[in-house]
Amino acid sequence: MQRVESGIKGLDEITGGFPQSKSILVTGDAGSGKTIFALQFARSSCLQNKKTFYISSEEDENDLHIQADNFGWDLQVLKKDGFLDFLELSELNAQLTETEINIGVESLKGNFAQIIQEIPSDVEVVVIDSLGSHSTKLTADEFRDRFALLIFELKKRGLTAMIVLESSTSKEFNEMALFTVYGALHLMKRENPYTGRRERVLDIVKMRSTDTPIEFIPYQIGSDGIFIYSYEEI
Ligand SMILES: Nc1ncnc2c1ncn2[C@@H]1O[C@H](COP(=O)(O)OP(=O)(O)O)[C@@H](O)[C@H]1O
Ligand SMILES: [Mg+2]
Repeated sequence: MQRVESGIKGLDEITGGFPQSKSILVTGDAGSGKTIFALQFARSSCLQNKKTFYISSEEDENDLHIQADNFGWDLQVLKKDGFLDFLELSELNAQLTETEINIGVESLKGNFAQIIQEIPSDVEVVVIDSLGSHSTKLTADEFRDRFALLIFELKKRGLTAMIVLESSTSKEFNEMALFTVYGALHLMKRENPYTGRRERVLDIVKMRSTDTPIEFIPYQIGSDGIFIYSYEEI
């Protein structure tokens, strides 16, 4: 199976990279580093010469550039070179609302498949950061169907995808999403039982066709972004 490197030092040594043309779910509390992870992956995929499309629902493009600049990642250059493009979902939401008003179709709410139509045809890697705000008004059945459809459409187009799911999304939605995707990572903070200090750890919840450790993997956010420092020990 071909892989796309996540760009997270240490993680690719553990997983061999993300399975190409598959969808990976990233979950975690606010401030756990999901957006940094998503930006780091987007940059990494661009550096692997893959045309990458970053769909943002929370932050506008300018804020993402500011966050990336903090880590020394010049995403403007990648954009200029045609490897990276952004879509602010708030713009799409505005369009959606207008459409809803015009034709009175309530069922358009949280229509994830609509997102797919916005992805240019030559794109190879997609990052969706994040889905939560799009799904708050959905019932569990609606969420399950639409999420499954989103994954199906991504797969049909052969896209490698990272989908960030907001922590505020219900446990029920999370579990449904988890069943549908090829792989899933969960970012969290916990108290280290030995040192008593709080640390960031990630859990590779699942990754099909990949030998993954059962242990939590400690990670840090440093001046170069997210890195895993002790993967040799795992
Ligand atoms: N340069 C940095 N060095 C260390 N930690 C940072 C740096 N920049 C941001 N952080 C940490 O990352 C968090 C934000 O990460 P972010 O990816 O935006 O979280 P979220 O999971 O909510 O998307 C901040 O709360 C801060 O703890
Ligand atoms: Mg975020």
